[in-house]
Amino acid sequence: MAKVIATISLKGGVGKTTVTAGLAEYMSAEFGQRVLLIDLDSQINLTTMMISGERWLELDTNGRTLATLFSDAVQGTGTSGSTRPSSGVSHR
Ligand SMILES: Nc1ncnc2c1ncn2[C@@H]1O[C@H](COP(=O)(O)OP(=O)(O)OP(=O)(O)O)[C@@H](O)[C@H]1O
Ligand SMILES: [Mg+2]
Repeated sequence: MAKVIATISLKGGVGKTTVTAGLAEYMSAEFGQRVLLIDLDSQINLTTMMISGERWLELDTNGRTLATLFSDAVQGTGTSGSTRPSSGVSHR
């Protein structure tokens, strides 16, 4: 069964993103677990750390980020299928 770990702190710059990335790497490499990273921070630091800014730009341009998912949900737009979001990064 999947476990959910949220890295939250009201204070900025205290290492949330760094801890999240490190924890994912460790759980994946040390225990062979599949880890799904979901980056809900508009700074997208975790996303760019994992897939690079260039790759994020490519995905965002094609409407394949969580921003598109939320925007579609709020505005009632979008199609099911072709613009499916994928900015949550599955990292092995
Ligand atoms: N254990 C650590 N030792 C030294 N520097 C660290 C450590 N963890 C994080 N840092 C550095 O501290 C800075 C802030 O880290 P990070 O971006 O992970 O914080 P954050 O809480 O996610 O910030 P934000 O609130 O902006 O999202 C970065 O420059 C990072 O490299
Ligand atoms: Mg951060």
